[in-house]
Amino acid sequence: MQAVVLVGGFGTRLRPLTLSVPKQILPVGNVPMIERVVEHLGRSGVDEVVLSLGYQPDAFLDRYPDGTCAGVSMRYAVEPEPLDTAGAIAFAARAAGIDGRFIAVNGDVLTGLDVADLWNQHASRGAAATIALTPVDDPSRYGVVPLDADGRVEAFIEKPDPGTAPSNWINAGTYVLDASVLDAIEPGRRVSIEREVFPALVEQGAVYGVQSDAYWIDAGTPEAYLQVQLDLLAGRLGNVPDPIDPTATVDPSATVTGSFVGAGATVGPDVVVTDSVVMAGATIESGVRIERSLLGPGCVIGEASALSDLSVVGDGESVPAGTVVAAGRLPGPDTWPS
Ligand code: GDD
Ligand code: MG
Repeated sequence: MQAVVLVGGFGTRLRPLTLSVPKQILPVGNVPMIERVVEHLGRSGVDEVVLSLGYQPDAFLDRYPDGTCAGVSMRYAVEPEPLDTAGAIAFAARAAGIDGRFIAVNGDVLTGLDVADLWNQHASRGAAATIALTPVDDPSRYGVVPLDADGRVEAFIEKPDPGTAPSNWINAGTYVLDASVLDAIEPGRRVSIEREVFPALVEQGAVYGVQSDAYWIDAGTPEAYLQVQLDLLAGRLGNVPDPIDPTATVDPSATVTGSFVGAGATVGPDVVVTDSVVMAGATIESGVRIERSLLGPGCVIGEASALSDLSVVGDGESVPAGTVVAAGRLPGPDTWPS
């Protein structure tokens, strides 16, 4: 099995963290997100991954120079310009010479989905495309996918207005695609799989859905990106990793709970870190309180500061002593490129 993994998006909802790296390089439990995604694919029987790169491709090339990730062989396809989801899948599949059935996944989804079962169900139905589906409370952020009694997809509605979704089962971002799907995607043009390709295939009755209750989260927002790490610590994704990297320094008077602390980070005296992510090389000075927040690599949080409610601090940012922020982004949107 070969899989195309989409990792070329700008990750705008996770800014400022994604100004310096693509979101799939951000750590999930002190390991880059992409490694957890690829590891799961490998365990499901995928032997080769093709990374579909656009935004900051070197971040991946530099980290995995030998063409393997989590023990799975990995190739790269760098788009000359953003081609949107279907354009990117087709570009990568063609670049890698894929000429048969293959898997495509959104690279920001952490899931326990049974990919081999999806593959088998696709084959047994003779579908052109098979989409994994997961139930969510608010489908308006996702692609909504109602099924008929035979499991055939009746409609594909990307990001419907709140309250209008006909189903709570949404596109989980893992597909099995036949090579024929590629033929319909015109090269060199932006094409969305959600807004263009799937709706057209649904008209032909060629798309099936497979519902799954397996663990699933799209880590593309600060809230979800934090939640997946809390779930990891709670054992909901299998083995619980060590929350504190062995090269981090945590003062004995500090209290760190429900949080990951990355390599070389320093947590000073009387600091309280609760339900948060402290990335590699970050420094938290004395008396700081961090709650439900994300601290980027190498940032410095000045003493007696208090950050809470999904505050997000960017790579290398210096937060002055005594800063009190709830739900803040540091640096703020006024400094981000448009
Ligand atoms: N190479 C490349 N080029 N990758 C891209 C591009 C592009 O132009 N645009 C987005 N991506 C990548 C992102 O990096 C991400 O891994 C994946 O494609 C999906 O993009 P998101 O921006 O995260 O989409 P979303 O979360 O709003 O919605 C998608 O995922 C939901 C489930 O996680 C849709 O597929 C929804 O239908 C789905 O429910
Ligand atoms: Mg996403």
